[in-house]
Formats: sequence, C-alpha cells, structure tokens
Amino acid sequence: MVFKETEFKLKDGRVALLRSPHEDDAEEMLQFIIKASGETAFLMKYPEEWADFNLDQEKAFINDDYYNQNGMMISCIVDGKIAGNCQISFRTGMKDRHRASVAIALLREFWNLGIGTKMFEEMFRIARERNGVRQIELDFIEGNSRARHLYEKMGFRITGVKPDAIRMKDGTFVNEYMMLKRL
Ligand SMILES: CC(C)(COP(=O)(O)OP(=O)(O)OC[C@H]1O[C@@H](n2cnc3c(N)ncnc32)[C@H](O)[C@@H]1OP(=O)(O)O)[C@@H](O)C(=O)NCCC(=O)NCCS
Repeated sequence: MVFKETEFKLKDGRVALLRSPHEDDAEEMLQFIIKASGETAFLMKYPEEWADFNLDQEKAFINDDYYNQNGMMISCIVDGKIAGNCQISFRTGMKDRHRASVAIALLREFWNLGIGTKMFEEMFRIARERNGVRQIELDFIEGNSRARHLYEKMGFRITGVKPDAIRMKDGTFVNEYMMLKRL
C-alpha cells in the first residue's frame, strides 16, 4: 500500500514529509537501517548482520509493501534525507485478519522530535480504514524506555513477556515485551 504524502512540523520547527519509500530509495534505506542498528541496542539486528542483505533484496522488501494490500511502509524525510521508517503489516488469515503489527526506527539525530508520535497517529488511521482490524501489536526490548513511553502514550499496554528473548553480544540475556492496542 502507498501512503498519501503529507507534511507536518517537527518539535524544532522543521517541516518533515511522510511518504512511502520506493525502490529508488533502496540504497538509502539500506544505509539507514545499518546506521540505525548501530545507534541503539534496541533493534533486532547488529549492523554487521545486514552485510549479506543486498540492494535487490532491499528493493524486493520495499516493493512487497508498495504493491501489496497487506502492508505499508512510511518514511519520514527531513532536509531531503530519510530520518526514520515505520511499517504496519496486516494479517490475512480467516482467524487472524483482525490483527496488525507495527515496527518503527529513526536515526538518533531525529529522536524526540515528535516523528514517532506522528507515525503512530497515521498508522492508527490506516488501520481504522481497513475493514475488520481490531488490534495492533508490537514487541519491544527491555530497557527501551523511550519506546515504551511512546507506546504507552499512544494507548498500548503490555500483554506479555518473553524471558531472555534477546542475547546481547556480551552474553547478557534481556527480556522482550509484547504490547497491544485496541482500536
Ligand atoms: C523509539 C522511537 C521510535 C521514538 O520515536 P520519537 O520520534 O523519538 O518519539 P517522539 O518524539 O514522538 O516521543 C518520544 C517520547 O518519549 C519521551 N522520552 C524521551 N526520552 C525518554 C526516556 N529516556 N524515557 C522515557 N521517555 C522518554 C519524550 O519526552 C516523548 O514523550 P512525550 O511525547 O510525552 O513528550 C525512536 O526514538 C527510535 O527510533 N529509537 C531507536 C529505535 C527503536 O528503539 N525503535 C523501537 C524498537 S521497539
């Protein structure tokens, strides 16, 4: 699905653009996720784990949402560059098509400017426009207090914990939490 472009104002006064990434953005998208993965401990991969992911795979990943009705990616563009991305994915089975899941990541220099809040507002609107979607789900890694604050502010509540779901490079184990918001 393709997001209808919209502009909004960041907390620092700059104007940001929300739009779906296109396959022409594949190279920047790949550089974006590698950089974002190195700027936080709270994404699922270490930057070097993206080394085997090539441009064609990134194009296919982008196109999968762009040309398909069961998912949508939205990029936030600030000063001409990708500041962050989010994705909403809709389940399709008879038993679970009332459910959607979301993911989000921004580059560190763009944290705390209101982009996350705006992206969630837009993802909620898109989910509400889709017939039958009742709940949105996400996971976060223990200790990600900024993400947890944002998710609780947007109406998500913790529904469960996966003990020791994440093993960091130093060998420490960290829990992962599941959250859900009813639309
Ligand atoms: C988590 C993330 C998506 C949030 O997006 P964002 O654009 O920074 O969020 P916003 O600016 O809209 O809101 C951030 C909120 O967290 C608050 N906050 C900032 N630092 C915080 C902290 N250390 N602890 C708790 N709350 C914090 C801000 O005050 C703001 O709350 P408010 O709107 O009530 O004032 C973004 O920081 C990010 O991409 N982080 C790295 C990747 C990541 O963790 N992704 C999520 C994986 S589950």
